Amino acid sequence: EKGTYPHYMLKEIDEQPVVIRRIVEKYRTENGGLTVDKEIIDAVNSSDRIYIIAAGTSYHAGLVGKQFIEGWAKIPVEVHIASEFSYNMPLLSAKPLFIFISQSGETADSRAVLVQIKELGHKALTITNVPGSTLSREADFTMLLHAGPEIAVASTKAYTAQLAVLSILAAVAANGKGQSLEFDLTKELGIIANAMDVLCGQKEEMEAIATEYLSTTRNAFFIGRSVDYYVGLEGALKLKEISYIQAEGFAGGELKHGTIALIENGTPIIALSTQEHVNLSIRGNVKEVVARGANPCIISMKGLEEEDDRFVLPSIQAELAPLVAVVPLQLISYYAALHRGCDVDKPRNLAKSVTVE
Ligand code: M6R
Repeated sequence: EKGTYPHYMLKEIDEQPVVIRRIVEKYRTENGGLTVDKEIIDAVNSSDRIYIIAAGTSYHAGLVGKQFIEGWAKIPVEVHIASEFSYNMPLLSAKPLFIFISQSGETADSRAVLVQIKELGHKALTITNVPGSTLSREADFTMLLHAGPEIAVASTKAYTAQLAVLSILAAVAANGKGQSLEFDLTKELGIIANAMDVLCGQKEEMEAIATEYLSTTRNAFFIGRSVDYYVGLEGALKLKEISYIQAEGFAGGELKHGTIALIENGTPIIALSTQEHVNLSIRGNVKEVVARGANPCIISMKGLEEEDDRFVLPSIQAELAPLVAVVPLQLISYYAALHRGCDVDKPRNLAKSVTVE
């Protein structure tokens, strides 16, 4: 039930801190560490390459998950859009492990790949919010998101739950290989939950950004580099699916290879800067679009902020920044859709779970 909330989407955005804390509890050991079923970790650590298969928001979570798994557990990862993989299967490695990411566990495009790879005799792990769902039943292993039912068509809390679960999987796999992280993930996830609480308390600010940049625009661009690019893709998907504004996420460096031609006077550009190693380059990209008339909305992380930034995120561990950076984008999309009179929870032409290929 949505209780006093006007929409499920807003309720589900607000639930994110609780979901992150719940995930930590569910994957916690008695001595405060994190744990994942031994058979899952064995499957991860005995594979020579991981293939993540997903659609939509879950695909975007997979892109960030790749960074966790490659960075910490040092296993190569490919992330594939399910509907493309089916007919365009890449050359597989000798010992592949497939990870299906799906909130519903019912996405037909992902299931088609699961059927294909099972016929080839490969192992599969499903990361899903729905115990007993098709993708969970048909895979060898399941990790649950514990996010509670997600009703709004636009996925919010499932995305951050997917990132949290992927981070735990990557960290425990890394530990299993004797590689320890440079930070305490349990503690960092707690800091993230607190940061999400702070952001959820800043709705007026998010609404003001939506009013300023998105009330009347026909299009909007999200730019970022490194993981900020992946968060930008998710921000753009959120905005387009509920507000019907044509929105695209781009890697900052790609703009000059074509997209910059679309910039007109007043075109909103939402730029993310949460990563120190690309901070200067993304700010350079912002200057390029501003010189062509764009209206920039820079969202940066504390420690990297500059005077003209529109919003500054609380400081958190850089690799985990997507869990926090996505929250303002979710809220901005929500308010943009609201202001434009759209049906936030049930956008046109979309279904919550896409059970046809
Ligand atoms: O249930 P799944 O995670 O497999 O769904 C995949 C996509 O259909 C889903 O994420 C979709 O993109 C959302 N509406 C995005 O908000």
